[in-house]
Amino acid sequence: MQYGHFDDEAREYVITRPDTPRSWSNYLGSRLYGGIITQGAGGYSFYKSGGTGRVLRFRFNGVPQDEPGRFLYLRDDADGDFWSASWQPVGKPLRGRDGDDVTADGRPTQASAVRHGLGYSIFESEYRGIRSEATFFVPKDQAFEYWSIKVTNNGPTARQVSLFSYAELANEWNYRQDLENLQYSQYVVVAKYADGMISRKNSTRTAFSELWFGQAGADVESFDTDRDVFLGSYRTQSAPFAVERGRCSGSETVGDNSCASLHSVLNLAPGETRQVIFMLGMGSPDAPWDDRDGIIHRPGREIIAEFGTPSRVDAELAAIREEWRDFLAPLQVATPDGEMNSMINVWHAYQTHMTFNWSRGVSLIEAGDRDGLGYRDTVQDMLAVTHAIPEAVRERLSLILTGQTAEGGAMPLVKPLTHNPGHEETPSLEKYRSDDPLWLPITVANFVYETGDVSYLDVELPYADHGSATVFEHLRQAIQFSLDHRGNNGLVQGLQADWNDCIQFGTTGESMFSTFLMANGARVVAELAEQTGRDEDAAWARAVLEELQPVLEGAWDGGWYIRGISATGAKLGSDALDEGKIYLEPNVWAAISQTVPEERAIGAMDSVQRRLATEHGVALCAPAHTKEVPGVGLSLLVFPVGHKENGGIFCHANSWTIVAEGILGRGDRAYDYYRSYLPARYNDSAEIHQVEPYVYCQFTHGPESPRFGQARNPWLTGTASWSYVGVTQYILGIRPELDGLRIDPCLPEGWDGFQVERVFRGMSLTINVVNPLGVATGVQSVMIGKHEVDLAGDSRRGALVPVEALSDGAVLTVTMG
Ligand code: GLC
Repeated sequence: MQYGHFDDEAREYVITRPDTPRSWSNYLGSRLYGGIITQGAGGYSFYKSGGTGRVLRFRFNGVPQDEPGRFLYLRDDADGDFWSASWQPVGKPLRGRDGDDVTADGRPTQASAVRHGLGYSIFESEYRGIRSEATFFVPKDQAFEYWSIKVTNNGPTARQVSLFSYAELANEWNYRQDLENLQYSQYVVVAKYADGMISRKNSTRTAFSELWFGQAGADVESFDTDRDVFLGSYRTQSAPFAVERGRCSGSETVGDNSCASLHSVLNLAPGETRQVIFMLGMGSPDAPWDDRDGIIHRPGREIIAEFGTPSRVDAELAAIREEWRDFLAPLQVATPDGEMNSMINVWHAYQTHMTFNWSRGVSLIEAGDRDGLGYRDTVQDMLAVTHAIPEAVRERLSLILTGQTAEGGAMPLVKPLTHNPGHEETPSLEKYRSDDPLWLPITVANFVYETGDVSYLDVELPYADHGSATVFEHLRQAIQFSLDHRGNNGLVQGLQADWNDCIQFGTTGESMFSTFLMANGARVVAELAEQTGRDEDAAWARAVLEELQPVLEGAWDGGWYIRGISATGAKLGSDALDEGKIYLEPNVWAAISQTVPEERAIGAMDSVQRRLATEHGVALCAPAHTKEVPGVGLSLLVFPVGHKENGGIFCHANSWTIVAEGILGRGDRAYDYYRSYLPARYNDSAEIHQVEPYVYCQFTHGPESPRFGQARNPWLTGTASWSYVGVTQYILGIRPELDGLRIDPCLPEGWDGFQVERVFRGMSLTINVVNPLGVATGVQSVMIGKHEVDLAGDSRRGALVPVEALSDGAVLTVTMG
């Protein structure tokens, strides 16, 4: 089944059948004012935070899904028939592929398509001769959203069409208070109408908020600000009372629930188009509004006067599109794989920005509870956007480094709006996650290599609880923390969790994943130290690695590495067990860390291939667990077998298989793993995958699940960042190093080359890779214009093109062989 297609030229995904198996959503706006919008125009908006800045209400997990949202109703005033500009919520019979205007039983059909673009969504509809196009977006740097609709009479006779807006406004900033603490939140809201505009105020315990809603392009005929009056009792959004009747009631809200409905009447001659621009924003219609966090918003009426014209809407939309083009331009590819191109050039890159912006805070699944920056997630999210937005990454990196404690551990969650470095409480050992700070070396090194800014390593930053140190010392301290907290077998203690939130080894049990992550960190710190003249640090890190060798070897189970070991000696991820015999994480990281003999890494990855790989991706463990493992906390037992961390295909960890195989030089394997969970690959079999074919999701049901292949939890996942690193740095093989750009492709059989446009340290480069012999790895020569780059003295695989050899506009020809 196919529900839509990629339009790479427009950088859009076009949904041609909005009755998708699950909600297919998109993001609007910026970190100032953002929103979610689904293919049914469901979704919500928020100011600065999805958890504590809720503007539009959303009933998560609702029936039907995607409600409420940003709904525009159209009504033929001649006979009262009504529909919505998006297919939902009215849900008229959909026009099928054969284009019939009426169903078999004579009911008119609606043609409906949705163009999800970068920062905007456009809903096209045609119903009984009335065409509409509704465009939703948040203009650049603004705290208001546009809902702009054009309505055209395509028929031969004059028509009178009523147009109604409808949005349900949150009563409380805090989404939980809004949805749950009704004895209070239902009685804090007041909404009024005056001179064409709705204003909504609430005075809550934590903040005072005001919203305005207005329109341009048509006179207001009637209005409602009371949700229940607009809908009518025991009705739903599919048939609001006001729309059915053709007129709002003029309700003003005092307590209960508010909404924003403005009604206008459009008289359309044949062929005529009218455009009505609805706008919803922070603040009040007639006075400036101070958000008490440093921003004063202009009166809504002023904003409507300035922004409420068709030409301004067009200009603002063009500005959004340009902004996104600028974000994506630093890395564009042309490979023999069209789906890879669509993903890397547009959607995958867009998703990495969204995870960077919203962490795990706002989606249809992440309701707002996880407000704040989860430590490990945030550190990993930066990896994929550093080349595009280095300043923003530097700021975020500096913030998250101040979430590290003086002893080297990290606060599990950093709340940017309230974070107070130097004064945060030190978590108890039991509360630490063993992996959290160990991601720092990778991300800091990536930042320094991308920007060339070695001075960043000397920047002094406070620890979360007390004291301060340079960035480099923060990294060393991260390794030291793990060294200080090891168990009987010399492995790193697992603590509250390692990367896998569902495995608790505690303060006595040991995690092989975190041990490899530490080993990798020590390697990265050693390399950074060697390159920046920190000889003593380099010697220290090398000694750590040396000392670890017998520990790593001791964790070899015969065919792969164990997952961990309890204080009582119970192993996880061992062939001797009936369940959880093999786990993905330690084995990929054995290869990625490059700290074990190559035959071990190959052995481990071959076992992964044999035991965990499936047609939809690699399972996280096998067989899935049904029983306790004495001495190990397995909270993954809450999940059915084959689901999430319990033997599901956890896509974040899948991305590491690409990196691991890329490092091992096995191009076919790396590429097969990449393709196995590539969302775009499911474009024509959406009934299997079910979620959006344009974004990665957190997991796919694993081989032991009866729903094998169905994917869940799209958008906000570490999969976005690491898959991007995997495909761009380890398949296409373009990786920044301190001295230049390494070009080290690891390609599948049959690829004769590819092209990359890449910005590196302010220089726009064109990299043409040609592969006349069809090899997987190896670079024979690099030409820049007519000059051959001297590759002698570079002992690593691929070619390091020194930064001095590069210049803005340079064209590189890289010949593999
Ligand atoms: C979720 C969490 C992430 C964790 C992963 C595996 O994606 O956000 O922090 O590493 O699950 O448990």
